[in-house]
Amino acid sequence: MSDRPRLLPLLNGTRHGTRDAMTCLYRCGNACDHPVPNTSDNAYFGDVVNAEVSRRGVVRAGAVGALVLGFGGAAAGALAGAAPAMAAPTAPDVPENFGFGRPSTGVGSGALTFKPIPPNKLDTLVVPNGYDHAVVIKWGDPVLPGAPEFDLHHQTAAAQSRQFGYNNDFVGVLPLDKQGKRALLVVNHEYTNEDLMFPGFPGLDGLSVEQLRTAMAAHGMSVVELERVAGTGQWKPVGKGPRPYNRRVTALSTKFDLTGPAAGSAWLKTAADPRGRTVVGTLNNCAGGVTPWGTVLSGEENFNQYFVGADAAPAELKPKLDRYGISTAARYPSGSRKWERADERFDLAKHPNEAHRFGWVVEIDPFDPESRPRKHTAMGRFKHEGANVIVAKDGHVVAYMGDDERFDYLYKFVSDKKFMKGNSWAARKHNLTLLESGTLYVAELYQTSAAEIDGSGKLPTDGAFNGRGRWIRLVSDNRSFVDGMTAADVLTFTRLAGDKVGATKMDRPEDVEPSLLTGKVYVALTNNTNRGVGSNPKPDEANPRNANKHGQILELVEDRNDNTSETFAWSLPIVCGDPTDPSTFFAGYDRTKVSPISCPDNVAFDATGNLWISTDGNALGSNDGLFATAVEGPERGHLKQFLTVPLGAETCGPFITGDNRSVFVAVQHPGEITGASVENPASNWPDGDYAKPGVVVTWRLDGGPVGS
Ligand code: FEO
Ligand code: CA
Ligand code: CA
Repeated sequence: MSDRPRLLPLLNGTRHGTRDAMTCLYRCGNACDHPVPNTSDNAYFGDVVNAEVSRRGVVRAGAVGALVLGFGGAAAGALAGAAPAMAAPTAPDVPENFGFGRPSTGVGSGALTFKPIPPNKLDTLVVPNGYDHAVVIKWGDPVLPGAPEFDLHHQTAAAQSRQFGYNNDFVGVLPLDKQGKRALLVVNHEYTNEDLMFPGFPGLDGLSVEQLRTAMAAHGMSVVELERVAGTGQWKPVGKGPRPYNRRVTALSTKFDLTGPAAGSAWLKTAADPRGRTVVGTLNNCAGGVTPWGTVLSGEENFNQYFVGADAAPAELKPKLDRYGISTAARYPSGSRKWERADERFDLAKHPNEAHRFGWVVEIDPFDPESRPRKHTAMGRFKHEGANVIVAKDGHVVAYMGDDERFDYLYKFVSDKKFMKGNSWAARKHNLTLLESGTLYVAELYQTSAAEIDGSGKLPTDGAFNGRGRWIRLVSDNRSFVDGMTAADVLTFTRLAGDKVGATKMDRPEDVEPSLLTGKVYVALTNNTNRGVGSNPKPDEANPRNANKHGQILELVEDRNDNTSETFAWSLPIVCGDPTDPSTFFAGYDRTKVSPISCPDNVAFDATGNLWISTDGNALGSNDGLFATAVEGPERGHLKQFLTVPLGAETCGPFITGDNRSVFVAVQHPGEITGASVENPASNWPDGDYAKPGVVVTWRLDGGPVGS
């Protein structure tokens, strides 16, 4: 058939360090071609030698409006999620926890007994001996009733709007019953690759308007009802009968409500939305999180690449657009997607505020398919990787967030209101408002061994890359703590607020996730090949390597183990790379016994608190993969590789069900290698013809819990 591969694409068309040029183009709009957007001169923390968080520092940050926090226990109860009692479309009889009920025993016990797989370049998904895997759903599969069969050669926006979208990223699995037989799969579709989606790809300028609209419909999110294959860890889409929860959210037509203090502000008003309160579409949804009240958060990340015409935007807006990676130097910056040909709101010369309506955290309620998803302005606007929530000891909910850009920042949000436990309608209604008001903070990190940080990655003589830090208050509802910026300014141009208060410039903060068992927070800092290069910021103890190719994991422990605390301690349990490289570190574990890892991106926890890490852009030459390690006890740092994804792909998700019997990953952009096309694919995964992104579930053949 005509879709079979005819000749191999250029397998080493790699640039920008570790990613293939095609991924650079489509995923982040050639971000590496553009200047580093953070040109602020806020002191890098190498200037602060051996600093502890001073009383003065804390007071300076939070002199007014301090949250008065109690220290009452109730941690266990608060950490366990509660279930909604939904009536639409039917009331799901859900268990007490959206992570499938996380057991409270054996915290980080490290009982990871699978035999690690070796690095490889195979065009298949590789799992350990004793495990199996299957594709759950892939690009083009039906989601909504009446979805037409996928037709590669005659794809339409209408068809795609009813089918599973492209380039699945975040994966959440929320149980629908107490027996663990049914669940809702919630997935982000981050971006499209038109080269690999449209036969005879004529270049972006040659695509028809209908094809551009099809790409818009392939963005967004999907909700898909799953059923367990009896007695196993395998899951499949429910194939028959009503599937009332199934839903597609797209960049093309789904309406979102803006909530919080910046909703309705002048920055968010456009000709189509003069009230500044309703946005059509969501863009570049990367990672996310499942909340304790059973909704899903999704981060709008590299939204900049969808906009053109910033060269003709109003002069006063240009510094703000530049800070968000929207080049104001050209009508068509490198990597432009040309969507303005289908919808002129993507032309900032005509609609300069439209870009401000993206870059938010989105919340969707998968249990109510009629509900309108929301963009929460109280959580700030940047290139949101994702957001993960924990209920603090006193009931406030805390969301941790990263801004995925070289030299950008780490954030957290603390809600004004407290989480309400239970299944009542009142609790449900209340908890859905928790992210609409609160306090937004940005992180400043201090170090203990500044004088020893020379960019080589050599472990300091105190035995750790570590230090203390503080959360700098930026805004609390309508009250700004940043000089010269209103609350709406801070929330809409949060990066500029972070610059002003001296936040610490990090090596691309990706997923940031608290362990629900310990409250400790783990940050994937994926890489930063500009660190210490030329006039770019120098290395520091949290970002200790020049031209950082492989990234690191940061562990953040809030003072008093209180997630609302304004001070914390941090360390780097893992400095990634080939373990034979002396600049790597695995929490002091014997390096001869760990798997090589490069470019950590997404993190997740299994039911016993082990940390799972997926990678994007492996700079060691292997395909990307999924890894796991204990984070407590003697096995801390014993990192083992669990799977690899096919050629050209990135490992996203991951999600481990709370019964530890199923590990989900999203195989994103398989075959995304320069020179590839539908006719000439670089990967034949999963069907043997052209490459298709898809969600995979992995399980143990003997039915036992994964890794123990
Ligand atoms: Fe979409 Fe930061 O990865
Ligand atoms: Ca140190
Ligand atoms: Ca990511």
